[in-house]
Amino acid sequence: MTGQPILELRGVGKSFGARRILNDITLQVRAGEVITLIGPSGSGKTTALRCMNFLEAYDRGEILIKGRLLGYRGPGRAAGDRDGAAGIARVRRPLAMVFQQFNLWPHMTALENVAAPLILGKRRPRAEARRAAAAALAQVGMAEHAGAWPARLSGGQQQRVGIARALALEPELLLLDEPTSALDPERVEEVLEVIGGLARQGITMIMATHEMSFAAQVSTRVVFMAEGAIVESGEPGRLFRHPATGRLTSFLAPWLRRPLQFGGPEDAEPRAPRG
Ligand SMILES: Nc1ncnc2c1ncn2[C@@H]1O[C@H](COP(=O)(O)OP(=O)(O)O)[C@@H](O)[C@H]1O
Ligand SMILES: [Mg+2]
Repeated sequence: MTGQPILELRGVGKSFGARRILNDITLQVRAGEVITLIGPSGSGKTTALRCMNFLEAYDRGEILIKGRLLGYRGPGRAAGDRDGAAGIARVRRPLAMVFQQFNLWPHMTALENVAAPLILGKRRPRAEARRAAAAALAQVGMAEHAGAWPARLSGGQQQRVGIARALALEPELLLLDEPTSALDPERVEEVLEVIGGLARQGITMIMATHEMSFAAQVSTRVVFMAEGAIVESGEPGRLFRHPATGRLTSFLAPWLRRPLQFGGPEDAEPRAPRG
């Protein structure tokens, strides 16, 4: 893939107090890529995604969105060098985020939740925003629930509204932070199907996930993080079949064992007799 990356991280670092949480993260995301971020809990996936959107301020390196520096006017990356809210909003406009906990407003219907950022953030006329919101809800199979309150929807349905809210912004890059990890197991599949459909339509995305089979199916590239750094990254077939580091091998071990444990009669593993 050629051309300017939509998103570029150059040596990005982030500390919370004295603790360094992200270390020298360098990554480019180009149009058409589907990148999954995998790694143990606490490895910095959420923090990395939040920095990409400047929901969290990084303090080292540079994040560029379509070539424009995000979050800072310079000269440095200290609080005093911060860009203003309007400047930050302008630079990050090509991005939209889907959150682990959906983050829907409880006092608004599904449709109002999707329309609100268009009305408040993009200053679109109300009727036009509601039309765009209805179309986005239809895209995630939620058209018939447009008038529902979030509390009346299942977790999977709420997350589909969360995805619609991001899609309505017509982002060039969608950021998703473990979009299925807050769901009951029986609701995971409906949300993965929606996200898989978006990936097949060519929507560019970067997504933190613990769903390894899904990552293997939809990713153009998988990025493995541990302790705030990128340990290895590559095309999913290579990365899952031939991890280059011991770190990734041991992270993947439980997942790679699973098909054997639950395999069919051709499974070579000896089984305990029943009864
Ligand atoms: N607001 C915060 N203040 C202090 N520490 C934080 C904050 N957010 C995250 N951390 C710490 O940063 C590390 C990475 O967290 P996170 O980015 O949530 O990882 P992941 O999403 O991979 O589980 C963890 O050790 C976490 O405790
Ligand atoms: Mg996380």
